[in-house]
Amino acid sequence: MPVSSSEAPPASTLPSATSPDVDVLRRQDPEIAEVVLGEMGRQADSLQLIAAENFTSPAVLAALGSQLANKYAEGYPGARHHGGCELVDAAERIAVERATALFGAEHANVQPHSGSSAVLAAYAALLRPGDTVLAMGLAFGGHLTHGSPANFSGRWFEFVSYGVDAETGLLDYDQVRRLAREDRPKAIVCGSISYPRHPDYAAFREIADEVGAYLIADAAHPMGLIAAGVAPSPVPYADVVCATTHKVLRGPRGGMLLCGSHLAERIDRAVFPFTQGGAQMHTIAAKAVAFGEASTPAFAAYARRVVANATVLAEGLAAEGFSITTGGTDTHLITADPGPLGLDGRTARGRLAAAGMVLDTCALPYGDGRGLRLGTAAVTTQGMGEAEMARIAGLFTAALRAEGDDTRRVREEVRELAGRFPPY
Ligand SMILES: Cc1ncc(COP(=O)(O)O)c(C=O)c1O
Repeated sequence: MPVSSSEAPPASTLPSATSPDVDVLRRQDPEIAEVVLGEMGRQADSLQLIAAENFTSPAVLAALGSQLANKYAEGYPGARHHGGCELVDAAERIAVERATALFGAEHANVQPHSGSSAVLAAYAALLRPGDTVLAMGLAFGGHLTHGSPANFSGRWFEFVSYGVDAETGLLDYDQVRRLAREDRPKAIVCGSISYPRHPDYAAFREIADEVGAYLIADAAHPMGLIAAGVAPSPVPYADVVCATTHKVLRGPRGGMLLCGSHLAERIDRAVFPFTQGGAQMHTIAAKAVAFGEASTPAFAAYARRVVANATVLAEGLAAEGFSITTGGTDTHLITADPGPLGLDGRTARGRLAAAGMVLDTCALPYGDGRGLRLGTAAVTTQGMGEAEMARIAGLFTAALRAEGDDTRRVREEVRELAGRFPPY
């Protein structure tokens, strides 16, 4: 639940020179400028602990806000359905070259508008409606595109779900193998929205090979960690890797697909013209900027800090009485059950939001009600370290126990902490 606008500083009190573009907006459309400035204030004076969010660099924002937004470019570089594409073609070629180099992939498609669009295109390339797909169940952390009845995936394909071990919370590869043998899926999907451990891609590959299935890795969450070499890569194992560019990877909101050369044409045609129209060239340019940033030693050091921070935060929350799914994390992501503190996830999320700590609820494998899902990508971009993570763990329990004036006091502490680490 986002912090209510009444808790963010009024936009009019924010510095006017935050960005020349915002000043242009303020003069022409004060109503929308007020929203933008208010959101800038909200992001700066509360803690962004949503595991899927991050702060892009000013260079990524500059590419997103550039004139490339004006350009229509259906098709691919050198083969567009529109004229005047020479320069945006260069941007897309650079993005593809950087993505293939960064992830060691033979082919990259950088056009998917989102992670969901990438998954849709992967299915479109490899499957036919009615095919059986084995993926992590939504109750265990599968994404909507992994078979939700409310999503195209659950409507158009026959999904069979695997889960995690009831005791350890870890992926149960014996169960995956058993279900694969029983149901003979056309594809197996590995990847999750809330599993805090590294999947064993080699084990998934072996199971897929045994039953003649494609392996689709939906690595939307760990892609930034993979770029930095601090999480194992699915690229050598999966037929297709689906990703988002806006989580730990710290790029613009968007998707991406990686595959071997033998699938390149099928993947490209599944994106355009099958599931999408014109490519968003400003976003593709911003993806190129993010891939460039992600290939630097500074980004690798950032990714290591993200994981170290998550480890310390998970330990701190465990010490405060939260039950941490799988007992910890290998990544940026923590799944915590506030049940031992006498609260369900929804109530806890509301109290944390009131104190300025913004995160999500998530399904709890085998647990009662919902848990909390949080991540350290954004606070680490701000420059926070292990000392701040230990402090945040303490602020969590203070916020959950607080009422009235105490909540306001915790909110002030959060504001003071966030204020010392401005995101821009
Ligand atoms: C595993 C996984 N797949 C797909 C997506 C979808 O990404 P988007 O929200 O960009 O459509 C997400 C987003 O959180 C995700 O975590």
